Amino acid sequence: MDLVSALKKDHQSLKKLYSAGLQKKTTLEEKKRIFKKLSVLVPAHSKSEEQALYSNITELSRIEHFAYEGFEEHHLVDQLIRELKTVRENHVWEAKFTVVCELLQHHIDEEEKDLFPKINKMLSPDIRKELGKEYRELFSEHSKSPQKEQESKYIPTHAAH
Ligand SMILES: [Fe+2]
Ligand SMILES: [Fe+2]
Repeated sequence: MDLVSALKKDHQSLKKLYSAGLQKKTTLEEKKRIFKKLSVLVPAHSKSEEQALYSNITELSRIEHFAYEGFEEHHLVDQLIRELKTVRENHVWEAKFTVVCELLQHHIDEEEKDLFPKINKMLSPDIRKELGKEYRELFSEHSKSPQKEQESKYIPTHAAH
């Protein structure tokens, strides 16, 4: 599958989740269920996207800044997802959760509107196909080993609050 199509397909699942998360009528319980899914899907998507796409375009002038901004946005979202696993106060949890959904919305919009059209122009169909295959393989690998090592590194000292 073409890389951009593969990424967009996974964005669809993420969009459904964060859009539901941002709706006013969504209850805290529903948000927690949404978060459970996001906390697996988002890191798997981000890591695979970084390896299959970002790391391959940091040398391409005119689009390299998308990769560098993307790395930073992924990093922010990952950080908040880790924090959400330890926060106990509901109002703090809900505020962080909303920010995660808003960041995802902004990030995915930017990728789809600004970056992907350039990828379609600058990379040949053959390369996009090859990278799409790579992305799918990485994604299934990363979704099988969700975050265990990463989490243990970040069990924050403030978790006891
Ligand atoms: Fe991304
Ligand atoms: Fe993405």
